[in-house]
Amino acid sequence: MSDHNAPNDGSTGHEWDGIRELTNKPPTWWAWGFYAGLTFVTCYYIIYPSTPLNLKMQSAINSITGAEMFVHGHSKGIMSMVNGNPYYKGENWTQEEISALEAKGFSELKIKAGDRKYLDAWTAINEMRDDVAEIEGVRADNMAKLATMSVEDIIADDNMRQFALGRSVVLFGDNCAACHGSGGQGTLNKNHPGESFPNLTDDDWLFGGWPAKIVETIADGRQAEMPPKGGNDELTSADIDKLATFIHDGLSTGDAELDEDGVLTKGADNPTFAAANDLYQETCAGCHAANGQGSMKNGDFDTGAVNFTDGIWRFGGDLATIKETITNGRKGTMPTWGGRLDETTIKILAVRVHQMGGGMDAEPE
Ligand code: HEC
Ligand code: HEC
Repeated sequence: MSDHNAPNDGSTGHEWDGIRELTNKPPTWWAWGFYAGLTFVTCYYIIYPSTPLNLKMQSAINSITGAEMFVHGHSKGIMSMVNGNPYYKGENWTQEEISALEAKGFSELKIKAGDRKYLDAWTAINEMRDDVAEIEGVRADNMAKLATMSVEDIIADDNMRQFALGRSVVLFGDNCAACHGSGGQGTLNKNHPGESFPNLTDDDWLFGGWPAKIVETIADGRQAEMPPKGGNDELTSADIDKLATFIHDGLSTGDAELDEDGVLTKGADNPTFAAANDLYQETCAGCHAANGQGSMKNGDFDTGAVNFTDGIWRFGGDLATIKETITNGRKGTMPTWGGRLDETTIKILAVRVHQMGGGMDAEPE
């Protein structure tokens, strides 16, 4: 008897280095899965464009059957013969359709009247291409409409506002996010306070947050300037310490409060505050306002002097940074975008900034 042929042990009798080939049937669930998969693939193959064929064979089969079963070296799929979908009809482009596309803003059309539509019959890529073309068409219409509308009107119109906001995501990311952050939240740079950028999502404005003003800021840019020592060379470092303490411990915490005339209504009993306020009214109030609430309180929407009473900082609210700001001054530059970005793009960005959270309806009275 041959020693490698042991019957009834569930093997085929083949053995390689101790590994035996067994005769077990695959599990039923697996077999069903296999047949289901096979059926699906077969149907898919017949229904959709699939089977490749060389071009000679293609034209032979097409001429024998008299039906265009193969195009571009693959089968069209039987759905192409039963379905009324334009992808299967093999229509030609008409001049009317081409003119309509051109009117929608497609300038680089490669098709001409008489060209066959959907050469490859249905493919996922063709369908996507045509869907994209449709979306582009809607987009071109909306872009043309945006060009004629004011920022206020865009914001008031639900559809156009949503459209502008959708378009603004990439524009903001490409042009503004590097400084203002991807969500417009700005940054306070602790190590280099001069490289801090304002938050655009709050209602704390330096120059104003109504639509026309935002457009002006974006188009013309801003050059803010806090002069060293507020422009008063006679300030001593002791004066600067007093002013910084007044801002840090007083105005920003609410322990010192000023009325519209620059009179201390709270904190007057603190001698440092009282002395600092005299200096403040003399040197700083012209820009930062008598009550410390910033240049916008003076009805000045071009200086961008910060509000000290809201706890929101442009460069940093720790005592050392405040002293540094007063001593050396600051020069924040918002770049000019007019000329680099077209008017419609600037409007779209203005809608975004306005809608980020703190948009004002109109210039304050
Ligand atoms: C000519 C107008 C002007 C005068 C005068 C002026 N400032 Fe300013 N100040 C500004 C502007 C503008 C900014 C914002 C600068 C920027 O954004 O680049 C600023 C910013 C500041 C900041 C930064 C606040 C923050 O949020 O980080 C401090 C602190 C400050 N000023 C204090 C003073 C003090 C104290 C005086 C008076 C000694 C003074 N300023 C006088 C225009 C002025
Ligand atoms: C190179 C950095 C930089 C880029 C890029 C930049 N900004 Fe600015 N932006 C600034 C600075 C700095 C300020 C504040 C100027 C100041 O007062 O010191 C500012 C201020 C603003 C303000 C005024 C906010 C207020 O409180 O009044 C708006 C609005 C604004 N930017 C929008 C934009 C938009 C929209 C873009 C993109 C098109 C953009 N910025 C790109 C640096 C930048």
